[in-house]
Amino acid sequence: MGKELVTCGLPYANGPCHIGHLRTYVPADVYVRFLRMMGRDVVFVCGSDTHGTPIVINAEERGLSPEELVDIYHRHFQDVFRKLRIDFDYYGSTDSETNHRRTREIVKELIKNGYVYSKKIKLAYCPKCERFLPDRYVEGVCPYCGMEARGDECDQGCGRHLEPGEILEPRCKIDGSKAEYREQEHYFFRLSAFKDFLMDFLEHLEGTENAINYSKEWVRKELKDWCISRNLEWGVKFPGKDDMVVYVWVDAPIGYISFTEEYGKIAGFDWKEIWKDNARITHFIGLDIVYHHCIFWPAMLKGAGYSLPSAVVASGMVKIQDKTFSKSRGYVVWVEDDYLEEGFHPDHLRYYLINYTSHQKDLNFSWKVFGERINRELVNTLGNFLYRVMHFTWKNFGEIPEGRVSPEIMEKVERVRKKAVDLIMDYEFKEACDTIMDLASFGNTYFQSKKPWELIKRDRNSCAKVIKNCLQIVKALAILMYPVLPSSMEKVAEWIGLSPERINLDELSVEVEGGVVERPTLPLEKIDDERIEMAEKRLLRRIESMSVEEESRLISPEDFGKLEIKIGRIVTAERIKGSNKLLRLEIDVGGEKRQIVAGFAGKYRPESLVGKQVPVLLNIKPAKLMGVESRGMVLAVDVDGKPIILSPEEEVPEGSIVR
Ligand code: MSP
Ligand code: ZN
Repeated sequence: MGKELVTCGLPYANGPCHIGHLRTYVPADVYVRFLRMMGRDVVFVCGSDTHGTPIVINAEERGLSPEELVDIYHRHFQDVFRKLRIDFDYYGSTDSETNHRRTREIVKELIKNGYVYSKKIKLAYCPKCERFLPDRYVEGVCPYCGMEARGDECDQGCGRHLEPGEILEPRCKIDGSKAEYREQEHYFFRLSAFKDFLMDFLEHLEGTENAINYSKEWVRKELKDWCISRNLEWGVKFPGKDDMVVYVWVDAPIGYISFTEEYGKIAGFDWKEIWKDNARITHFIGLDIVYHHCIFWPAMLKGAGYSLPSAVVASGMVKIQDKTFSKSRGYVVWVEDDYLEEGFHPDHLRYYLINYTSHQKDLNFSWKVFGERINRELVNTLGNFLYRVMHFTWKNFGEIPEGRVSPEIMEKVERVRKKAVDLIMDYEFKEACDTIMDLASFGNTYFQSKKPWELIKRDRNSCAKVIKNCLQIVKALAILMYPVLPSSMEKVAEWIGLSPERINLDELSVEVEGGVVERPTLPLEKIDDERIEMAEKRLLRRIESMSVEEESRLISPEDFGKLEIKIGRIVTAERIKGSNKLLRLEIDVGGEKRQIVAGFAGKYRPESLVGKQVPVLLNIKPAKLMGVESRGMVLAVDVDGKPIILSPEEEVPEGSIVR
């Protein structure tokens, strides 16, 4: 078998890494380590997704350029991946020169092959900002489910991808003003032309059932052409249209090709081996981006003449303490701040993410369960067995005893290996991990039943045989658990004299060699209950403070009662010198005359206001405008910056209270 490629969904370089992200990266890393232990020649790439409107908006809000923002998170993700031992061969950026070139080339190819057409469409336009509002720049109502939706996706409601122009009651994200629809020419990818191809493609696509089944359903139901041009500066320029960029979901997956090319230059192979010659290509993603990877992406590859993915492996989504992941509501666990910085072990998180539940199911994160799984399962079963055997060996023999391992033990290991590999090849990472953990339990039972601590006193030779068998199980566990717990198992392997190059599946049929051993350290350490409690408290506090923040936008009747609003009659109105907006008003609010400055001059002649009844907020702090004191505020409606005065339905006594 030649080279094969494994990729992971590219994180948006728009914010820090959270444990939801890791649901894609950890299993992919485990899978790749297994393939390599089987001797397969794997290229493992990922990189930052750098384009799209959320990045531009976020950068704008933080006073940074998109490049600066992207750079911060590009480094951040690389750093987190390094600490978690998610070892990509190459971690690129979709803003690289290679990716700009490859994207434009693919779009040109699609144009040449007749898969792109232009069409005038109605797009949200903000008259105030004087600009079209691509994707995240527009907010409004989802036309399918009626929920609040943002730009190109209905993220609070039905989750649908929304095409430009689909969103109802559009508003500008920048200034909140009402947007209008205006016509503009845009480019469309003829996805609808790929229906038959996709049906057939999905029939043969490998990977997880969730991805394939959902996709088949979508293809059967509806395939809409995708608008692939956007009114933005930041991104890959649309070929032949310098005032537009391609939609981020075009250049993002093309990153997979570009990163292969960039890595090939370093590692000395040709990217075409993979993307033109039908090498095996496996994409790891989360369930939220199945449509993009199983429908849009293969159609684009087919249309431009590239190799197609062989497998799409989609994980279920991560939830936090039973709630949907939500950064704004505080239901999030940040990998750096909440986990690594607090001194938790990277291998523990890897184990938890792999072994909590099967890959396709949602993973409901809770600190308590995390602590239990690590202490009661990982440390108690695996850690305990490894340490007992290692410590006993060192203390009683000082070396790995010579002699043969029993055939039963070799056969047992062989059976576990076969089962685990089959499960990994089926993307059943949890079940594979359980199978290996069963070997650790078996080891514990074996050690317990043979009572080596008694045997050593009577029959040193028999004891050495038992220990040799145990050490073979230690070796098997170090190798088989290495993909899940790389840094912990490397240490165990080293202790039994196994160098990193020898951590592979063939080694499982080689008997553990004799040799001097050192005093072992604990291969896996327990987590203190207090630290779990602290982490949990921190999460709860964050959720609470976020909901306080939400609630702080709401006001109580008492809060409203603090506003002293009364009806007054305008008795004087005159222009203020030097201002063409402001008027000086005198208002009779019932037994008291107030001088108030109001910005009504652009809309009303002063004379026309005299005699009118208006609501006045009386207990607002006094202010000076153009040197004139204003004690109160006349309430009015703002329509595109022009005031419209409010008046009671019928005449009321001056000083009547508004509530
Ligand atoms: N940039 C796109 C992917 C482009 S691929 C050509 C994206 N970025 S992301 O930062 O939102 O997510 C990166 C990866 O993490 C994706 O595979 C996504 O499915 C996964 N997850 C992000 N949040 C997740 C959860 N809460 N749960 C599980 N996986 C999730 O999507
Ligand atoms: Zn919706």
